[in-house]
Amino acid sequence: MLRLLVLAVAATVVSSEEENMRNLTTVTWAHAVNNKTYLEAVLASNICMLEADIVLGTISGKDEVIPVMAHPPATSSDLSLANFLSTVAQYNYENTDKQKGVKLDFKSIEAFESSQDVIARYSKPQSSCDHGQCNLRRNITQSQPNFPIWLNADILPGPVDSQVKPVDPAKFLELGSKHPRAVLSVGWTTNYGGNLTEGEYSGEQIGTMLRMINEHHINQTVTFPVRAGLAANSQPVILDLLRETSSLNSSMTVWSSEGDHVEVDRLRALILTVGLERTYLDVPQELAAKLHLPPAKAKN
Ligand SMILES: *[C@@H]1O[C@H](CO)[C@@H](O)[C@H](O)[C@H]1NC(C)=O
Ligand SMILES: *[C@@H]1O[C@H](CO)[C@@H](O)[C@H](O)[C@H]1NC(C)=O
Ligand SMILES: *[C@@H]1O[C@H](CO)[C@@H](O)[C@H](O)[C@H]1NC(C)=O
Ligand SMILES: *[C@@H]1O[C@H](CO)[C@@H](O)[C@H](O)[C@H]1NC(C)=O
Ligand SMILES: *[C@@H]1O[C@H](CO)[C@@H](O)[C@H](O)[C@H]1NC(C)=O
Repeated sequence: MLRLLVLAVAATVVSSEEENMRNLTTVTWAHAVNNKTYLEAVLASNICMLEADIVLGTISGKDEVIPVMAHPPATSSDLSLANFLSTVAQYNYENTDKQKGVKLDFKSIEAFESSQDVIARYSKPQSSCDHGQCNLRRNITQSQPNFPIWLNADILPGPVDSQVKPVDPAKFLELGSKHPRAVLSVGWTTNYGGNLTEGEYSGEQIGTMLRMINEHHINQTVTFPVRAGLAANSQPVILDLLRETSSLNSSMTVWSSEGDHVEVDRLRALILTVGLERTYLDVPQELAAKLHLPPAKAKN
């Protein structure tokens, strides 16, 4: 009797975990994790994904120009990319049951180019037994990092006539594809919010993304960050984009700035059409609450 009960409880836990894995909107986000104090705080919290910005700059008090964690216009930090990644990797090594992922937002192609060696330490695929030395290699394999790494940049000009200079798309994709374990998170610059309350992703903007991904023979997981207020008005083209990239296990990451105008009903319709298993949701709590996403089915 007691054993049956234990089994039943275990089964419930497994299925709700499976449910969570299929519901990507349960993933939680921290933003601008660009200094030591905040990084420590986020690692001590329940947040799953750490979004952080990378620019070429300096560590306060030093001269060497290296990839550092900072958001433009800032160009200095107390945290380098190397230090950020090794701290997260150490945390994940010590907490195998609650892995935290990183979304690295590269603000220039120069910052990404200079970061290649540092990222490569963490972005190799799980090693295979290529020399017939499985047992010997097992310990190395176990300590190999496998926490989620996303490489993000706005690589194309987007709505509404954004004049922000995108990160060079060809170079970003070419270098990104050298990190096969990493998720490529590639999006469009945007000009929205404030008194700009109307706009959408055009078929041409979506088509250019598809062409770039095909031309660079991308063959790894991709996600497309889309701004909530604009995505809500762009359902047909976003569905095209995700269908055409389904072999890359593609998803969309819906993000929003505080105060953006969003047609909530349309955004909800988009998310439910795309599916919770293909939608990361990185929006202010107020907007997330208004979406009233359907709850997980009750288990009996
Ligand atoms: C550290 O980062 C957090 C989040 O971006 C920010 O709120 C805080 O002011 C930063 N602290 C310092 C000392 O820069
Ligand atoms: C929108 O806001 C900007 C500054 O926030 C202002 O310069 C511009 O005139 C406004 N445009 C309209 C149409 O109100
Ligand atoms: C894509 O990568 C997988 C391994 O991850 C490989 O098996 C497959 O052949 C690759 N496909 C193409 C078209 O390169
Ligand atoms: C997509 O996911 C499947 C199943 O997890 C995996 O075998 C395949 O390699 C993935 N393909 C890409 C391009 O990420
Ligand atoms: C998916 O996750 C969201 C956010 O945690 C939650 O509100 C919703 O009820 C979940 N739905 C399903 C079907 O799991």
